[in-house]
Amino acid sequence: MDFSISEEQKMIQEAAREFAQNELLPGVIERDETQKFPAEQVKRMGELGFMGMMVDPKYGGSGLDTVSYALVMEELSKIDASSSVVVSVNNSLVCWGLETYGTEEQKTKYLKPLATGEIIGAFCLSEPEAGSDATSQKTTAIDKGDHYILNGTKNWITNGNSASVYLVIAQTDKDKGHKGINALIVEKGMPGFEIGPKENKLGIRGSDTHSLNFNDVKVPKENRIGEDGFGFKFAMKTLAGGRIGIASQALGIAAGAYELAKKYAKERKAFGTEIANHQAIAFKLADMHTQIEAARLLVYKAARDKDIGANYDLSGAIAKLHASKTAMDTTIEAVQIHGGNGFVKDYHVERLMRDAKITQIYEGTSEIQKIVISRSILRN
Ligand code: CAA
Repeated sequence: MDFSISEEQKMIQEAAREFAQNELLPGVIERDETQKFPAEQVKRMGELGFMGMMVDPKYGGSGLDTVSYALVMEELSKIDASSSVVVSVNNSLVCWGLETYGTEEQKTKYLKPLATGEIIGAFCLSEPEAGSDATSQKTTAIDKGDHYILNGTKNWITNGNSASVYLVIAQTDKDKGHKGINALIVEKGMPGFEIGPKENKLGIRGSDTHSLNFNDVKVPKENRIGEDGFGFKFAMKTLAGGRIGIASQALGIAAGAYELAKKYAKERKAFGTEIANHQAIAFKLADMHTQIEAARLLVYKAARDKDIGANYDLSGAIAKLHASKTAMDTTIEAVQIHGGNGFVKDYHVERLMRDAKITQIYEGTSEIQKIVISRSILRN
C-alpha cells in the first residue's frame, strides 16, 4: 500500500495550484456576485489540458489517470468551485461517457473539440419530477426510424447556456421502464431546442445553470449513445465516475477553507495572543484537518479504484458522501474561526460555505449515496 503520489502527479498538482492562484483567484468574488460564467478561465483550462484530462490523446485529451484528475479538481476547488464544476462535468459526465460508449464518428465529431476545451458539454438527466428518482423520465425521445423526436424539460443543467453539446437522457418506450431510456447527443441550435432562464443560486454562482426545453427536436439516430435502451445504464455508469469528480471538488472546498482559517488563526489576536493559541480554535483546526485527511484518502482510493479497473460505484459514493459532509462542516467552522470577518465577502470563506452545499446535492444527494452504499454492502 503506497499513499504517495508520483512525481508526474505532483507536477500536475503544482500546475493546477499555480493556475488557481494566478488565474482563478483574481475576480472570483466579483464573478460570484454577478453570476458571471468564467469563460476566459475555462478557455485557459482547455489550453492547460484540464478539460479532457483522462481522454486518449488521439481524441485531443491529456491521457492522464483519475488520480491526476482528482488532484487538479482539488486544487481548482480550493479557489473557485464555479470553475471546477465546469471541469468536472466536461471530464466525467461528458467526455468519459462519449469516449467509453460513443461510436468512432461521435468521438471524432464531438469528443475531440470537447476534450481540447474548444467547446464544452452538459449532461441532462434531472427534470422537474425526476431528480433523485432518475428512472421517472418524462422527457420523451420517440423513435421515428432514422431519427428521434425529443420533447420535454430538463432542470438545473450545469453549463446550460455555455455548452455546445448536450447529452440528453429521455424515455423512448415507457412500457420498458428504465430499459426503454436512451441517451442522445443534442447540439445547441437544433430547431426546437430552447434554453430557459438562468437560475439565481445560493452557491457556485459563476457556473451557468439553466432549465432546457425540447419541443419536437429532431435528433438523428446516429446521435444515440450505445444500443437502444442503454440510456439509464449510461447515466448510472457516467454518474458513478462523476461522483469522484464532485468528491474531489468537495475535498478542495474543505481544504481551501481550512487553509484560510489556519492562516487567519495564526495572525488574528484576541486576549493578548494569536487565536490559534486558544484551545477552542486549535481543536476546531484539529477536527477540520482530521476530517479532510480522511476525505482525501477516500477520494484518492476511489480514483485509484477507477484507474486499476476495480469497481468504483461503492468507493465513489463513500468518497462523495464523506467529502461533501466534510466540505459543509469545515466551511462552517472556517467562517466561525474568522468571526465577523468570516461573514463578509473579502475573506472568501462565506463563499466557500455557500459553494459547499451543492456537493451534498448534485450528482446524487447524500441520501442517494446512502442508497448506493447500503445496497452495495447488504448485497454481500
Ligand atoms: N452501473 C450500472 N448499472 C447500474 C448502476 C451502476 N452504477 N446503478 C444502477 N444500475 C442499473 C441496475 O442494475 C438496474 O438494471 P437491471 O434492471 O438491468 O438490473 C437499473 O440500473 C435500475 O437500477 P435500480 O433498480 O437500482 O434503480 P432505482 O430506480 O432504484 O434508482 C438510484 C437507483 C441509485 C437511486 C438512481 O436513480 C440514482 O443514482 N439517482 C440519482 C441520480 C443523480 O445522481 N442525479 C443527479 C443529476 S446529474 C447532475 O447533477 C449533473 C450536474 O449537472 C452536476
